[in-house]
Amino acid sequence: MKKLADLDSPAVVIDAALLDKNLQAMQSVCDAGGTELWPHIKTHKMVPVLRRQLELGAVGATFAKLGEAEALLPSGVRQVFIAHSLVDLAKAARLRALHGKLDRLILAVTSAPQGDALERLLDAAGIRVSVLLAVDTGLHREGARDPAQAAMVAEKIRRSSRMELIGLYTHEGHAYGASSPANAAEAADRVYEVLGQVREAVGGGLSLWPGCSVTAALLAGRPHVHAVRPGGYVFGDLALAETTGVSAAADVALTVLATVVDRPDKNLALIDAGSKVFSGDKTPSGLSGRCLEHPALAVSRVNEEHGYVTGEGVEHLAIGQRLRFIPAHVCPVVNLTDRVHVLEGGIIRETWPVDARGRSD
Ligand SMILES: Cc1ncc(COP(=O)(O)O)c(C=O)c1O
Repeated sequence: MKKLADLDSPAVVIDAALLDKNLQAMQSVCDAGGTELWPHIKTHKMVPVLRRQLELGAVGATFAKLGEAEALLPSGVRQVFIAHSLVDLAKAARLRALHGKLDRLILAVTSAPQGDALERLLDAAGIRVSVLLAVDTGLHREGARDPAQAAMVAEKIRRSSRMELIGLYTHEGHAYGASSPANAAEAADRVYEVLGQVREAVGGGLSLWPGCSVTAALLAGRPHVHAVRPGGYVFGDLALAETTGVSAAADVALTVLATVVDRPDKNLALIDAGSKVFSGDKTPSGLSGRCLEHPALAVSRVNEEHGYVTGEGVEHLAIGQRLRFIPAHVCPVVNLTDRVHVLEGGIIRETWPVDARGRSD
């Protein structure tokens, strides 16, 4: 029976009980609000996690890329939303094949020119699909910039023989700029207001599909919100537990296990996990991770293979000591590792491959 101490360091560790708690909590909020959960799998990219989400009641799942959906088909998922600007004609055969394996494939229209390109792709694939129209609610990435633009793109979709417009979606990632749960609630209200204005302008009583872990629980249950599509909630990270404060640090289910490999001076410990484990993503205060066992200690700088641990009490760390760290942003951490270790009752119960790791195609 393997324990944490038996793992090769660095390692990515998932607490099975906390993962399940997070999955159940989000599902309960959705069930209570009568809202469908279509979790974004970008965070976990793993068949067993999606299988559990579906078992708990998720209706479908959201993906960024075809490759992710292909890799996670063994979960049994049969309703898929690809929330990205698909345009590449070279993907026609894969798109057709994926469509043939699902009960329902929903694609995204993210602008008028992208909609034209998608139409050509659907022609090449020889399929007709449901689509959601993207609305920019503040991130300023994809999506209609105002209600008039959304109405114009919706009109184009309605004239298409390849697409059926079923709703409006957004990724309100700008909500990560909230610095407190109260701020997050204000951001959610504003997202809902913008979606409502666009819905009014587009007509046809479209359903709303917002998607972000900061706002999901706040938007589920509101009128016309058909589905929410959070991703990061499954594990949590410093962005959710510290920056925005919408979840608790005690509920973070994924940590990086690392070893102190040097103590070059009294105010610094070097660990064997750097940007190739934590990624380059940081909190607004510049942290890559915070120590689970000693929260005053943090990874305040990274090189590729080194993490710089600083903070109160660092002088007590010893070479060879193992510590666990909550990453600043969990999604790229999972995509940087081949496998994760599942911890339950102090034992490493299983090791899961990250099935869709690197499937950005
Ligand atoms: C289109 C889309 N939907 C949903 C999500 C999930 O967001 P989060 O990880 O904040 O829950 C993302 C995240 O980047 C996204 O890009």
